[in-house]
Amino acid sequence: MVTASAPGKVYLFGEHAVVYGEPAVPCAVERRAEVTVEERTEGLRVHAEDLTLDGFTVEFGNGDHPDVDAPETMVEAGMGYVSEAVAQARDAAGVEEVGFEVSIESAIPLGAGLGSSAAVTVAAIEAATRELGVELDPEEIADRAYRVEHEVQDGQASRADTFCSAMGGAVRVEGDDCRTIDGVDDLPFLIGYDGGAGDTGALVAGVRDLRDEYGFAADTVTAIGDLVREGEDALVDGDLERLGQLMDVNHGLLSALGVSARSLDAMVWAAREAGAHGAKLTGAGGGGCIVALDPTDAPLTALDYTPDCEESFRAALASEGVRVE
Ligand code: PMV
Repeated sequence: MVTASAPGKVYLFGEHAVVYGEPAVPCAVERRAEVTVEERTEGLRVHAEDLTLDGFTVEFGNGDHPDVDAPETMVEAGMGYVSEAVAQARDAAGVEEVGFEVSIESAIPLGAGLGSSAAVTVAAIEAATRELGVELDPEEIADRAYRVEHEVQDGQASRADTFCSAMGGAVRVEGDDCRTIDGVDDLPFLIGYDGGAGDTGALVAGVRDLRDEYGFAADTVTAIGDLVREGEDALVDGDLERLGQLMDVNHGLLSALGVSARSLDAMVWAAREAGAHGAKLTGAGGGGCIVALDPTDAPLTALDYTPDCEESFRAALASEGVRVE
């Protein structure tokens, strides 16, 4: 039996524009998904606790219909990642006929812009390959996890979430070019969560339509890329003030592309008015989480008093990516 964990992430800059080949800077945060894998003779049995508000257990036999105790959409979402992740592990180990018992515990809200599916996928690949006696380096885990997301999300995934979760720290992703950014010690991230989730596919499609229809929307995507390049310098300099200013601008540009929401705007403004250096939505948008930058707890208190905010918490930069527990 092997347990592995992997961190979630926030987008410091660059979501959506990354889909069009612009650079993005996701940062791993200390909210982890933990996956335990035990080999068994056949089939796949998955038990998930805290994957959303309710846990579920699914048992797959050989060719049987799954025996399920949770709503189907939730199960489909969770199972897709896990069954593709264990398929990657079987492939890496060169074995076909092996079953697994998988348990998932995740402290990362689902579909809320914090990279929950990537963290579960990365941790599952690490735990399942080690259970089969194979040790992969984090880059290979990232690559295999990307293939899982690509498969489950119908080719809509970027490498950002999976690379960041596998490697930890701050990373830079531009198309297939993924690198870690050295010299970033910590960043005082605060998260506000509205309790909901955005529909990533629909939001990405919305930006695509806008970009196809209007030149200025295409320019907005390009402007996000320019902003990310400025942000990288501020990150290396540790200039929180400039990072915050650029986060504010990034949020404005994402709003212009139609991917913010009333709840996200309310949380962004609450954090800013409480003195945060900057605040923006993180991930696909439409609902879910915002990320603010501030070493004090004042924005957390302000978020707690914001009706749209269900939960707020501090999330340090996770310098460690995937690891065996
Ligand atoms: O909501 P998340 O964390 O899955 O992020 C989506 C980010 C997008 O840029 C909108 C899409 C992508 O795959 O990069």
